[in-house]
Amino acid sequence: METKAKKVKLTIDGKEVVVDDGATILEAARQNGIKIPTLCQHDALSNWGGCRMCVVEVDGSPKLVASCVMPVRDGMGVVTTNEYILECRRTMLEFIFAERNHNCMFCPQSGDCELQDLAYELQMDHLTVAFSFNKFPTDVTNEYMAIDHNRCILCGRCVRACKEIVGASVLNFQNRGPKSLIGMDLNQNREESTCHNDGLCMQVCPTGAMVNRYRGHYAVKGHSKDCQQLDTVCSQCGLLCPTINFVKDNNLLNIEGKLTGDNGRPDRGQLCYKGRFEALKNTGKRLDSPMARSGDGTWKTATWDEILKLVSEKLNDIKKKEGGEAMFGLASSAASNEELVLFRDFMTRGCSAGYVDTFDGAHFRTVVGANKEGKQAFREASWKMIPQADMVIVLGAAPSQSQPMISTLLGKGILERGQKVAFLGETDPIQPYATYYIPVTDGALPLLIGALKAGLKGSGDGVKLLEKAGLEADAVKAFHEVVKSFADSVNPIFIVGEKLTGLEDPMALADIVSLAKQKGLYPEEALRLIILKPRGNSAGAWKLGISSSKKVPGKSKWKAGLVLLGEPDDSNLAALEELKGVGFVAAISPYFPESLADKIDALIPKPAWLEEEGTFTSVDGNETAYKQKSLQTPVGIMGSWEIFKNLAERVGFKPDYQSWKDLSQKAEREIKNRNC
Ligand code: FES
Repeated sequence: METKAKKVKLTIDGKEVVVDDGATILEAARQNGIKIPTLCQHDALSNWGGCRMCVVEVDGSPKLVASCVMPVRDGMGVVTTNEYILECRRTMLEFIFAERNHNCMFCPQSGDCELQDLAYELQMDHLTVAFSFNKFPTDVTNEYMAIDHNRCILCGRCVRACKEIVGASVLNFQNRGPKSLIGMDLNQNREESTCHNDGLCMQVCPTGAMVNRYRGHYAVKGHSKDCQQLDTVCSQCGLLCPTINFVKDNNLLNIEGKLTGDNGRPDRGQLCYKGRFEALKNTGKRLDSPMARSGDGTWKTATWDEILKLVSEKLNDIKKKEGGEAMFGLASSAASNEELVLFRDFMTRGCSAGYVDTFDGAHFRTVVGANKEGKQAFREASWKMIPQADMVIVLGAAPSQSQPMISTLLGKGILERGQKVAFLGETDPIQPYATYYIPVTDGALPLLIGALKAGLKGSGDGVKLLEKAGLEADAVKAFHEVVKSFADSVNPIFIVGEKLTGLEDPMALADIVSLAKQKGLYPEEALRLIILKPRGNSAGAWKLGISSSKKVPGKSKWKAGLVLLGEPDDSNLAALEELKGVGFVAAISPYFPESLADKIDALIPKPAWLEEEGTFTSVDGNETAYKQKSLQTPVGIMGSWEIFKNLAERVGFKPDYQSWKDLSQKAEREIKNRNC
């Protein structure tokens, strides 16, 4: 039965208020629309009471009290503002300013700084105490973030965020008195430390002490208050992290995680280095108009009509003369579900293409093969189950590179709860903390899996496999401990990565599927297995049937093809290596694909991922989220809907959806009804 929270009645600035017992004075004031200034307090963190900006008078107390840490009590009388309180706050603020170099003129965070805001609010326009600051170092060793200790107010938000939310405890207070500063590990710089660049410390920093080196603050003065703030999701790795994108004048200036409010995520709204920083990089040469390759190999711009005519006529021509079997389509799984359906339907129904696949199709085929071996399609566990597992076996995966937040969750599990984590066959920066690490040379992973299977059966066959895998005596000992820990675990989970799904033979993955099944299923029949897929929307592409379950046929019979590219590095993928020599290849791409320049014949520009809206499916295939666009497409570039609609009309194909909304619903229905 739900128990009702006990209520407490108190008076704040003469107003009688009723709040839950246990609330702080600050919370009680905020719930009743009364503003108290704060600095070290942050809604996503524990209260610390360090800066004393939030002091108030409480009946019966001889001193001012910090409202962020003082709980309410029945009958309490609180005054939040009078001349004396304001004077005390102003004096404390002066001390903070006097202790370090807070010269806003030269601070990149000027205009977007809580300390500066507070100085304006408290009308602190000069100092009545002498400056007393030492010269502190700056740390610019890291690609993403700079630390300027001269601008630090030692509020401890970063230290608490690193401990309480990230679970890494890289940041800490070092030294004493006026020499105090925020240190990393044992007095290392950011680059040498164990920081994994999630940037949460920087997000909660109220001043310019931690700044984003990719932020275009000089272009627009970093005034986040003047920016459009868009609630959206990051689609880079399939964890669909909610973000707030700060946009001004069609420039993406900053990306923050959604830290407050319960979003039902074990990461509590953090972001990883990919989601926070990589999207701010300008990579790839933007394709700003259609282009066609001339006979002498040079690229010339073309009109939209010319390029769409060229591509549709070439594809139509090959279809008529050689049949659809002579045509292929290859797509990036970084694309949204909608774009992928547009591409698939155009290629299969519009062009009758004999082969349609994604660049990560080889991984899909291994998963399908493992499914067949198990004689039953499986549903993966949600990545959100990871913190609840008592044993996690990571096989052939380096989540810090593919899905960094998973690496963060594992690190937190190990350090905070002693979660047992075994890394088999691949290393990861959190591996030194892992309970077990058993490295094997490339190709020996199946031997290790075979030995795991044998060990769990109690058969001695595993010993030979371990020998064959080249394991040293220490690793063999650790391996036996992994077997025992897994056998003893009640709620284990496997996380497998590209080194395993990249194997042509699906047997090793099938073995993992069967071991996962032996431990029973999660709710909704989910297997104790998460497959870390290569691209941000691989799970969507696999469920939509874009990835082919058939092996890539001999290329010699291909006479024409269409390629859908997404991220700038898509064009470097091995899957595209052999396009040269195919009669006619067109690419739809936001960027000029340098490495494909001699392999393709026509280029159709499309919006970059931040300029497209659409749905994306989570890495485990369990959730789909909508990503709204953050930026407007440059003038003169058609959206994917217009491009495919135009091409479809020109080849005489009539799709069964008439709008983007129809398309989204179709994609959603298909994804819901299909296991990959
Ligand atoms: Fe209360 Fe800092 S906000 S002491």
